[in-house]
Amino acid sequence: MLMNAVIVDTQAVQRHRATILECVKDSDSSIRKRSLELIFLLANDSNFKPLIKELIDYLELSDHEFKGILTAKICSIVEKFSSDKMWYIDHMLKVLSVAGNFVKDEVWHALIVVISNASQLHGYTVRSLYRAFQTSSEQESLVRVAVWCIGEYGEMLVNNIGMLDKEEPIT
Ligand SMILES: *[C@@H]1O[C@H](CO)[C@@H](O)[C@H](O)[C@H]1NC(C)=O
Ligand SMILES: *[C@@H]1O[C@H](CO)[C@@H](O)[C@H](O)[C@H]1NC(C)=O
Repeated sequence: MLMNAVIVDTQAVQRHRATILECVKDSDSSIRKRSLELIFLLANDSNFKPLIKELIDYLELSDHEFKGILTAKICSIVEKFSSDKMWYIDHMLKVLSVAGNFVKDEVWHALIVVISNASQLHGYTVRSLYRAFQTSSEQESLVRVAVWCIGEYGEMLVNNIGMLDKEEPIT
């Protein structure tokens, strides 16, 4: 019913966003799936950042079956709304670290295209991936993206080239 209502009056449903988000964590799997569909329809330019933060936090706790569905929705929202490359890379790396085994090939392929096109962020990205690899080496797609970046930008990793203010140097 709410999914039909979104088409007619988005604002009326937006008002219940917090409650719907809680339902994504419900113990009943059918409630979880339906509320996630609804959340996907409610994501917009002004709310996607806090929404993604909540969903990624929950990704770590969610069960195996739901992780695949949740990962796909998180990746779609991140790809659809993010216009800031650093935000996109940071959040995709989080998803890869927590649920890399559930990330579809086309999603990490698209990430590599964005990374290769963001020349200002090559050093930052290869170092972030190297750090993530230390703790999440069991996540296959994270390992693939990390190995690709180390192959391309390895000299920026070992020499800390292009350090951003927020980074700690790697030794
Ligand atoms: C986006 O979502 C927020 C909060 O859920 C809502 O207040 C706002 O009106 C929505 N914006 C649009 C353009 O629908
Ligand atoms: C690469 O970056 C340029 C400029 O920032 C942009 O116009 C172009 O669409 C990007 N290409 C891809 C494949 O992301």
